[in-house]
Amino acid sequence: MAIQWSGLGPDLLLSLDRGSGEPLRSQLETGLREAIRDGRLQGGERLPSSRELARELGISRGLVQECYGQLLSEGYLTSQIGSATRVATGAFPAPAQRAQRPEPPPRLIADFRAGVPDLASFPRGDWAWAAREACGSVATPDLDYGDPRGSAVLRTVLAGYLRRVRAAAADPERVIVSTGFAQGLGLVLRVLARAGVRSAAFEDPGYGSAETSETIRATGALGLRAVHVPVDGLGIDVAALDASGAQVVVVTPAHQSPTGVVLAASRRHALVDWARRNDAFIVEDDYDSEFRYDREPVGVLQGLAPGHVFTIGTASKALAPAVRLGWVLAPPSLAGAVAAEKQISDRGSSTLDQLALAALLESGRYDRHLRRMRGIYARRRARLIAALARHAPGVRLTGLAAGFHAVAHLPAAADEQAVVVAARERLVGLYGMGSYRAAGPAAPPQLVLGFGDLGERAIEPGIAAVADLLR
Ligand SMILES: Cc1ncc(COP(=O)(O)O)c(C=O)c1O
Repeated sequence: MAIQWSGLGPDLLLSLDRGSGEPLRSQLETGLREAIRDGRLQGGERLPSSRELARELGISRGLVQECYGQLLSEGYLTSQIGSATRVATGAFPAPAQRAQRPEPPPRLIADFRAGVPDLASFPRGDWAWAAREACGSVATPDLDYGDPRGSAVLRTVLAGYLRRVRAAAADPERVIVSTGFAQGLGLVLRVLARAGVRSAAFEDPGYGSAETSETIRATGALGLRAVHVPVDGLGIDVAALDASGAQVVVVTPAHQSPTGVVLAASRRHALVDWARRNDAFIVEDDYDSEFRYDREPVGVLQGLAPGHVFTIGTASKALAPAVRLGWVLAPPSLAGAVAAEKQISDRGSSTLDQLALAALLESGRYDRHLRRMRGIYARRRARLIAALARHAPGVRLTGLAAGFHAVAHLPAAADEQAVVVAARERLVGLYGMGSYRAAGPAAPPQLVLGFGDLGERAIEPGIAAVADLLR
């Protein structure tokens, strides 16, 4: 697709060598032909006006017009009365376009991919309002590089929000704004590796637990040994964690990813005890706690042991992954070190985006959006339960207390991977628990069914199309 530069468009880098003896017109023609042939200027892109290019290059307008005329007659350019001169489409495809594009994947009847919120419900109007507010209210000095921890405005609003909604012991001084959970975890693991931590534990199954996952590879790159600790019906097995010798554990207490188990109260206390006894750290991934259906939300673990817990939150589930904003609430002793890592990493997240998020939170628009989304996800969740009860009644669903995914338990003899492959042939996207396990596919056969970005009306036909595979 051609870029539609409007107005005068950006400058065009062409150089003329006045000492070469070659006529300027010939140099200009050659320069333009080469730029078109090698794809610097692509089909459909507009050229500067002859007046503009002449001014830029310090030559006469007539000379540029002659040159454009020549290239028009050679088929490099096109022009219509009253519109700008453009590069002819199709004459010289850019190198990248010459390569055969892979066929787009077929459209699925239903894609039960987990981890993605309803992208169509992103509050575009509210975000546009908040971005305008941010632009209008930002103080000029705040457009400079700032505190690597992030905007003081957002950190203050976030700390207040986390104290109220998540019962966190949150102080703006210890909040570091990050590029989502992904960067937050990287910063924390780097700080701990520098502080002498040698092994990091992950829930198994867990988000990013598979040996090939980015998280495990990033952990290895920091020189940390990754250990995997089993999760059962009460959450992470703290006795197994104790035996593993790990000095930090990454957990999802409010809604285990992907099993959906809420960490039992006894385990919460045992986990905090483990951290205190071993002078160890807990990284709490608080990714989708906003969406609870059955009970009141459980507060963050961080409130129980602020000196041992890093809580990492993200706007990816509440708003959309494209926002790329998250936050780390760090223990007092290590908040400065996390901020220093953020400084090295990227000097801080976009201040304008942070101010927009702060405006969204403070104005109540964020909460209004969450309330609306809870209703949408609750209806999809009900549809999923009903569709399975109708078409595959033997299949048990668990992990439904919060979030927008659930776990379907297949019969013991089922081959999880074969079900996933057969479903894809019927244009239904199913995902096995195996991709969340450290050792890959293994018994018991289970599916992780996401319904966040799946329209309510697609759920029943999707389940009906694969029901015989699930039974
Ligand atoms: C459990 C869990 N934690 C964290 C993330 C990543 O969040 P972010 O987009 O903020 O990096 C995901 C993304 O799917 C997730 O499922």
